[in-house]
Amino acid sequence: MDLRIEPWEDSDGDLVRKLTGDPAMMEHLGGAENEERIADRQRRYAEPDSGMFKIVDGATGAAIGSVGFWERTWRDESVLETGWSVLPPHQGRGAAASAMRQLIALAQAEGGYGAMHAFPSVANAASNAICRKLGFELLGPCEFEYPPGSLMRCNDWRLPLTA
Ligand SMILES: CC(C)(COP(=O)(O)OP(=O)(O)OC[C@H]1O[C@@H](n2cnc3c(N)ncnc32)[C@H](O)[C@@H]1OP(=O)(O)O)[C@@H](O)C(=O)NCCC(=O)NCCS
Repeated sequence: MDLRIEPWEDSDGDLVRKLTGDPAMMEHLGGAENEERIADRQRRYAEPDSGMFKIVDGATGAAIGSVGFWERTWRDESVLETGWSVLPPHQGRGAAASAMRQLIALAQAEGGYGAMHAFPSVANAASNAICRKLGFELLGPCEFEYPPGSLMRCNDWRLPLTA
């Protein structure tokens, strides 16, 4: 699939609403977000060097999803955490995996971090398949309080960023 990742822009509010305001999209991520959280995400994503990118279909120019990374301290190490989303009509065509390959190349080129981690819910079959396909190593299950007040059982996947 011909696609590219591009930095998030001020005009991408509709995309974040479609990604995180839709209960089906957020089944494994704690449920649909309200307008206040959507607006907060849009503001943070559009900041320079936010680490968040939209996935753009090269054939149509349409924004079809998101990928991104952000810093997190995990087991006493500073790592990049990553996440991805693709709008339902565009799922199942390798878009998430392809966009992630571009994101990983960016993270490797920027340097500064030894590893990238992904924490999909253990029930999120597609995301766990993507981690495996991209060469992440499964370290095992862990629990997060997300969103506040609920416990989510996730898999801890790790990808070394250094050669
Ligand atoms: C997860 C998500 C991004 C996948 O997007 P996508 O573009 O369809 O993903 P891809 O096509 O790149 O890859 C999906 C892989 O999962 C596999 N897969 C999908 N559903 C599966 C299932 N139920 N069981 C096992 N594997 C499954 C596919 O076979 C594919 O692997 P393959 O290419 O080796 O065949 C998309 O479903 C989504 O946005 N979901 C809602 C948001 C979300 O959960 N984000 C992830 C948070 S960690």
